[in-house]
Parts: sequence; structure tokens; C-alpha cells
Amino acid sequence: MCGIVGFTGKNEAAPILLDGLSKLEYRGYDSAGIAVRNGDAEPEIVKAKGKLKVLKEMTNDGKAVKGSCGIGHTRWATHGEPSATNAHPHCSDDENVIAVHNGIIENYQELREKLVKKGYTFKSQTDTEVAVKLIDYYYKKYLGTPVDALNHALVRIRGSYALAVMFKDYPGEIYAARKDSPMIIGVTGGESYLASDVPAILKYTRNVYYIGNLELAKLTKGEVTFYNLDGEEIQKEMKTIDWDAEAAEKSGYEHFMLKEIHEQPKVVRDTINSVLKDGNINFESLTDEEMQNIQQVYIIACGSAYHVGMAAQYVLEKLTSLSVRVELASEFRYREMQLAKNSLAIIISQSGETADSLAALRLCKEKGVKTLGIVNVVGSSIAREADNVFYTLAGPEISVATTKAYSCQLVAAYLLAMQFAKARGEITEERFAELIAEINTIPEKIEKILEDKERLQWFASKVVNIKDAFFIGRGIDYAIGMEGSLKLKEISYVHSEAYAAGELKHGPISLIEDGTVVFSVVTQSALYEKTISNMVEVKSRGAKLFGLTTYGNYNMEDVADFTVYIPKIDNLFAGSLAVIPLQLLSYYVSVGKGFDVDKPRNLAKSVTVE
Ligand code: F6R
Repeated sequence: MCGIVGFTGKNEAAPILLDGLSKLEYRGYDSAGIAVRNGDAEPEIVKAKGKLKVLKEMTNDGKAVKGSCGIGHTRWATHGEPSATNAHPHCSDDENVIAVHNGIIENYQELREKLVKKGYTFKSQTDTEVAVKLIDYYYKKYLGTPVDALNHALVRIRGSYALAVMFKDYPGEIYAARKDSPMIIGVTGGESYLASDVPAILKYTRNVYYIGNLELAKLTKGEVTFYNLDGEEIQKEMKTIDWDAEAAEKSGYEHFMLKEIHEQPKVVRDTINSVLKDGNINFESLTDEEMQNIQQVYIIACGSAYHVGMAAQYVLEKLTSLSVRVELASEFRYREMQLAKNSLAIIISQSGETADSLAALRLCKEKGVKTLGIVNVVGSSIAREADNVFYTLAGPEISVATTKAYSCQLVAAYLLAMQFAKARGEITEERFAELIAEINTIPEKIEKILEDKERLQWFASKVVNIKDAFFIGRGIDYAIGMEGSLKLKEISYVHSEAYAAGELKHGPISLIEDGTVVFSVVTQSALYEKTISNMVEVKSRGAKLFGLTTYGNYNMEDVADFTVYIPKIDNLFAGSLAVIPLQLLSYYVSVGKGFDVDKPRNLAKSVTVE
């Protein structure tokens, strides 16, 4: 969480910093700030509570702040409430050191006490101010270079950080350091950029360096030098990002979420095509022989990615003899689980930076378990640390609530399950070919659902004022209901819960009263009658029913008050279609309530805190 940017070059820094921050606002949006230096003049620091637009107004879109070297930050509060004082950048009392930070410094109390004894005072409650003053302390103590000062400070800091630092004695230069929080550096035509994520600098360059854990960088105008913790220079390879700048713009849509929902046919197609060649699935990352030897699969993830894992479990179990467990990364990492031999841990993560998922990955590796990351962001920590990677090709996902990355993760999981089944000889040639044909129909069927979005918009207007909702389903439909429920609650602030339909009568049914809305996902033919019975049970207690099923199941209309149909598809892949109306519904409810769809309150996209 939190987004940081930095720029040093020929042009004015403030407009570039604000533009970069606007692409990172999904990472946090309770306050923002910039520090800009004009040559060797004193830096100008401007900070504001609230969304970035407040800072933009204060600085006339950056035009009022002069200078060609600067750093910026958009904050998701951890230590200290959202306020201008707690907003970054923070600086030492004499403004010798100024920095922005993303991450958490776990031992900040202890460091703060040490610094107070040395005569430092603190204005904010943040851990970042402690880091800044620690760097200042070592800079003055050893009278060395900024790299020396940073190295001394970093070995004392426990926790995670992506830091961008300016030193008074080094105008035109920015120093960066990173551990367990994302940061990339871009260099082009006499200008250097730094950011938490690619979209912030995509407009200027696609040539980036990934700064590694416990590495430092010095940015000057158009040049970057990397160092290790011993202060020795190290070489890094430049990578080219193949996302285009358009991908990080709204392109005429009112919100990124709506744009990203509409991008799903394309990105799902791209993800399928990345491994499907001439009717065969080619995983460079995992060989057939490895797939034959695996007996146990752990799928580990957070939030929506965990919901993908839930759906994937049913598909893997249906197609293979593998034993599958789906685990919440934040729980898994603290359990004393005996991990089976010959197992594979699949870590699913859009950002590739989620702290708990990354920690779970490291734990699996420590225990000798082979790991596979299903990751969207190229070069992210999970992508780099996993033994194998299957990249989803969703492109940059800006809206905080995931849609297109979720859909790509889902097809990635199907493809993996299909190849496991094939490699292990657990599926006939005919069935495999049938599934290949079916998976290829997903993009056009999503397109069809999107064409019918006005009906969902209408229905959303009828439920815009509901306070509570339930989502029910069985099997894959339950997993999709979990995602539908999360989407509704996170962007519309409607209290919503998902239940396995068979569980209702074990407690939650007592909450059903006149008018309670129950969204029922009913795409799995073998479970159709059973879920209809559960719908009838809640209807007779006053529930208002939304039924989501496949074309042909027209008797749904005898039970449901409002029915949405999705195109027919193999039951295994129905989740990819069923989730689309639920995404649209949540979107329209949120818009109907006048909320900031792309930036729901209290949330941030890449959750790098534990
Ligand atoms: C919800 C959502 C989150 C993420 C979760 C994991 O819409 O986006 O629940 O799925 O924070 O994030 P990644 O996939 O980046 O690990």
C-alpha cells in the first residue's frame, strides 16, 4: 500500500510526480504530498489530507511548484491517522534528508527512542519520520555518502520499505532502497523515474529496472547506479514492459472498473493464447514429468485470488486425482502444517506483492515445497521468488476491486488443471479436446453477457438501498458467490455474506426476513435441483431472489424474482461467465449510491502490510 514516485530530469518535476501519483492512487488515497527542488535551492514540500485532487488544487496541477527533481507519495495510513502532518514526504528538522516511504518499519518505536536520546524530535506519528531521521543521524555521524548513510540505517530497520530519499548536499539526485515493497526505476533521454508500479511511468518509458531486495539506487538525470548493502556497485539488467500507456488510462469509460470489466474478453483470450498452441497446453514453467510426480496441491492466496483458488479446487478435483487444499495466505503462514512430500504450492496474486502471500510462498520454499506463482505483475516479488511462474496477461489493473485479473487467474487455473489431467493420463484425448474447444468460447461468451448489461443496471437500481445481502451456491457456484459477495460489499458498502447453499439452514436462515435479497448462483447442472430447493426455502421466509443460471433453465423464473441467464458452457468453466453479471451488478449499485467505485474507502490495491 502507499504509492511512491520520483523524478529527476530536464522537465518540471511536480506535474510528472502528480501524474504518476494519479496512476498509483489505487494504492492509497487518504493523503498525498510532494517535495520538489529547484537546483540547489531549499526544497518545497506540499502535503494535503484527502485524495490527490486536493494536492493538485493546492499546487495548480503542479505548475505552482518549480524544480526538476522531486519525490511524491500517496498514502494508505498505517502508523498515524490520515492528516497533512502524517502525510509524506517527511524530513529531518534541518531538511537535510527528505523521504517518502511505502512499507512498515516494525521496530520504529525502538529506533525512535534511540533518536530521541540523540536529540531528535518528531512531528508525526509515522514510522517513516523515524526512518528519515535515522538516515540523517548516520549521514551526520559518519560524514559519508548518501549510500553509506542509507546502508547504516537499513541494517537497523526491521520491516519492509520502498524508500525514495533526497539529500540537501546532493541536488538533482534521488536515492532509493527497497525491501519487500515494490519499486521500479525507469531511465530515458536524460530523465530518471522511480515508482511503486509500472503505470506511473508507462507514459514516459517502458524500459525499467527492478531494484532487488536490500539493494540501493542512485538516480541522476538520465542515469542510475545500483549498489548492494556493502555500498558496492552492482549491475542490473534493463527490462522492457510490453503494456502500452493506453492500458493505464480510462479510455472514455467513466471508471477503471467498468473499463476493466469490458477488457475481460481480450485479456482472458490473451491469457489462454499465451499457453495454448495447436490444441496443446505448453507450460514452460512446469513439465509433464513434474506434474506426474505431484500428489498434493496447496492453493494459497488472499481475497479474490483466494476465491479463484476455491473455484480451481473443484476443477482440479474433477479432472485429476490430486488432493487439493485451498488456504488463506494470512492463516496458512502461521499454522504448523505438515506439508506433504511431492506437493506443489500455487500462489495466486495479481500484484505479486501481497505480504501474506509472499510470506506463504517463502514458507513453502523453506519447507522444500515446489512453488508456482500465478501472477499478473511482471517482475513482482512473487513472480521473482516462485520456482515457476504462470503470468496472467490482464495488463495493468487500476481499479482497487479486481475484475479482469480475477478472470485471467480463473482461466489460468483451468488450463493448469487440464494440463495436469493430460500429463497424468487422467483425461481422454476426446475430453481434453472438448475442454480446449470450450475454454476457447469463454471470451466471446463474456462479450455476450456484457452486451446485456442494461438489465443488470436496471436491477441494480432496484436494490441500491439494500442494507444486507446473501449469496448462495453449491460447488463452483459457491466459489463464485464468494466473489460476488466480496465485490458487492467492497465497492457498495452493502453488508453481504456468501454461504454454501446447503449451510443456510444451519444458522444463517434465521437472518432471512421480508425483502432480504438473496443472490443465487445456479450453473452446476448436478446441483441445480438442490440449490433451487434452498432458494424456495428462503423465498417462503420472505427473501427477494436474484437467480443466475444458464440459458435453458427457464424454470428458474418460477422461483426467482429476477433472473439473469449466461450462455451455456461446460460446467467446469461456468464460473468465468457467472461472475460477470455479479461484477456489473456491484458496479452499478456503487455508481447508483454515488461512491468512488475505483477507490473504495479503507482499501488499497496491493496489500503489502500484514
Ligand atoms: C478484491 C481484491 C482483493 C485482492 C487481494 C489479493 O477485489 O482485489 O481481495 O484479490 O488483496 O491481492 P493480490 O491478487 O494482488 O495478491
